[in-house]
Amino acid sequence: MSQPTIESILNENRLFAPPTELAEQAHIKNLEEYRQLQARATTDPEGFWGELAARELEWFEPWTQVLDWQPPFAKWFVDGKLNITHNCLDRHLSTWRRNKAALIWEGEPGDSRTLTYAQLHREVCQMANVLKQLGVQKGDRVGIYMPMIPEAAIALLACARIGAPHTVVFGGFSAEALQNRLVDAKAKLVIAADGGFRKDKTVPLKVAVDRALADNGAPTVEHVLVVKRTGEAVEMVEGRDYWWHDLQAGASGTCPAEPMDSEDMLFILYTSGTTGKPKGVVHTTGGYNLYSHVTLKWAFDLKDTDVYWCTADVGWITGHSYIVYGPLSNGATTLMYEGAPRPSNPGCLWDVVEKYGVSIFYTAPTAIRALSKLGDRYPNARDLSSLRILGTVGEPINPEAWMWYRRVIGGDRCPIVDTWWQTETGGFMISPLPGATPTKPGSATFPFPGIQADVVDMEGNPVTGNEGGYLVVKHPWPGMMRTVYGNPERFRRTYWEHIPPKDGQYLYFAGDGAHKDEDGYFWIMGRVDDVINVAGHRLGTMEVESALVSHPAVAEAAVVGRNDEIKGEDIFAFVILETDRDPSDALAAELKQHVVREIGAIARPGGIRFTDVLPKTRSGKIVRRVLRSLASGEEVAGDTSTLEDRSVLEKLRAGE
Ligand code: PRX
Repeated sequence: MSQPTIESILNENRLFAPPTELAEQAHIKNLEEYRQLQARATTDPEGFWGELAARELEWFEPWTQVLDWQPPFAKWFVDGKLNITHNCLDRHLSTWRRNKAALIWEGEPGDSRTLTYAQLHREVCQMANVLKQLGVQKGDRVGIYMPMIPEAAIALLACARIGAPHTVVFGGFSAEALQNRLVDAKAKLVIAADGGFRKDKTVPLKVAVDRALADNGAPTVEHVLVVKRTGEAVEMVEGRDYWWHDLQAGASGTCPAEPMDSEDMLFILYTSGTTGKPKGVVHTTGGYNLYSHVTLKWAFDLKDTDVYWCTADVGWITGHSYIVYGPLSNGATTLMYEGAPRPSNPGCLWDVVEKYGVSIFYTAPTAIRALSKLGDRYPNARDLSSLRILGTVGEPINPEAWMWYRRVIGGDRCPIVDTWWQTETGGFMISPLPGATPTKPGSATFPFPGIQADVVDMEGNPVTGNEGGYLVVKHPWPGMMRTVYGNPERFRRTYWEHIPPKDGQYLYFAGDGAHKDEDGYFWIMGRVDDVINVAGHRLGTMEVESALVSHPAVAEAAVVGRNDEIKGEDIFAFVILETDRDPSDALAAELKQHVVREIGAIARPGGIRFTDVLPKTRSGKIVRRVLRSLASGEEVAGDTSTLEDRSVLEKLRAGE
């Protein structure tokens, strides 16, 4: 083996069976059923996906071939014609769901709105007509830069209705980031808002659009459509900018859904790698519609009676697949919340759960850790008994955070669905099925039915036991990205050339370290780029961090490798303490000992630094690259524009 694999040192043996009553009524009721689906999908992937596509979606014209695979380029449901908004809206209108709540929205200042399927359909049609009126045609790209308001979902769907691929830029990104993405996508129009409310403040958005477009900064953009949200004064450029409500007032509520080829582009979503230019991840229509639909249905056991709430922002893939397209395609009630826990209302999430009787709640480990740091009193003050399933996504979840989530939020009764996936995968790849899969805290458990995932070394040989390796996917799946927008070579290089094909099978390289335990459970160990090499042992970050977080004084931890003359690298830990604990040398020594006790001497941190802040991306992922530079006393190199709060760097440098 030319490259060492990654060692697993985590020891986690707790196992939680699915609740009996939930299992009895679940879409997938037990492990046996899961195994049968998986066996069928492995021997006959095309039959498996073809049957699901016929059963779960409506098509204007059938496909002639389920899969055309010319590695690394896949086409799914070749020649099939459909429109995702027909599946998300129109098909529900002829059923009792016509007047069911499609979208429940809660604004940060306390305003709220509910749109039924019929109402949502009408508004989407109106805006689709507005887009046409502004010259947007099938195939034109539309930039979306909005807060979490119903118009954001309507904007996505209006684009999809007329076949104009959208590219959503997260509202927290700067004017420069917006400009780069609009230029790369050659967007013809931008849909924005004057601003949004976030954490007791207003966030101006239109100003950033103006800046992005100034001096012909994004020359392809002809018009800007602006939703009035905060009511702050904004400049409207004559002939370029229009108010959403003005144009909506005159627009017809009827707009036929454009028949799209299954492989027509549905959207581009940019992921910011740690280096280089953001990649425009391209998703297409048919495969993505099916995959976001069926993954949500099975992994969250979605039912018509559910009130489903995903706390992500619509600017991330989670918002695309699991606030908008997946839930609506299933005819579910999806809840959208503009706010976030904030000083004036740290318990606001639980207010929303109680107010609407949320039954499925899906959030990120970073939120769970922040919420658990606030203690149990906020969730305990609300009635959370409507909850039946809890989900997490975005980072490995430390077992202790998982246990807190289960105990305090889930009342020891709700299964935790830890979903591993990526912008590139379109939907869940490794995840429990809540009625079928016994869960282990910190493990995303098994591949979704139809997904052939494995852990391999750099040559593509499977690794087992305590050895970790590289997480790969061995067979194409309908929700996979099709290419990097405008750069197919980058697509090939980034995802398909790290590990050579094995036995004729191309391996999708996810960039994550993982290991499979003796029961076949997958444990994600963190990004391969963050692996620490201590005296020849390659360790993932997640396991050492989890050991630290399992100490009662620790709320959150991030570990990195620091150059060490003897060991190559030495583990350095940044630790945020629980509110009631004070840093001291004695506590640092105790934490080091605690890690040794939990996972062994190899993982003993050489240094611990107490801090109140950690550098995070805007989607809440810890940016260990920055911590690595700080720990080694080096200048922070690379792009820091993805950081949520750049002042964190100053604080860390100043030793706060
Ligand atoms: O490192 C993995 C981590 O997030 C990466 C994907 O990030 P992004 O494209 O922004 O998508 C986030 C929402 C899907 C992965 O490569 N990640 C995501 N979910 C998990 C995770 N790591 C561990 N466990 C998860 N459940």
